[in-house]
Amino acid sequence: MGPKKKTEIICRCNNISRETIEEAIRNGAHTLNEIFDTTSAGVGPCGGSCRRKLGPLLEYYLKHGEFPEKIVEDMTGKEPKKAGS
Ligand code: FES
Repeated sequence: MGPKKKTEIICRCNNISRETIEEAIRNGAHTLNEIFDTTSAGVGPCGGSCRRKLGPLLEYYLKHGEFPEKIVEDMTGKEPKKAGS
């Protein structure tokens, strides 16, 4: 088995893949709340443990305009800053 890459499941509660999340972000979900609304990731019964992956993924995209090879989890649980605010 090679690296899982895009089919990696980010939100285990709701079975949301990285691919689904990246697509939502590309389509304009540029805050965590918009990602929650669009994909239902981050709002499962665990209370949102996957947010520490969603945050950095979103932040990286807003900064670089592309997605990182590997998501570095953010253990602080902060909402990423919006570009230009
Ligand atoms: S893993 Fe995403 S809300 Fe639980």
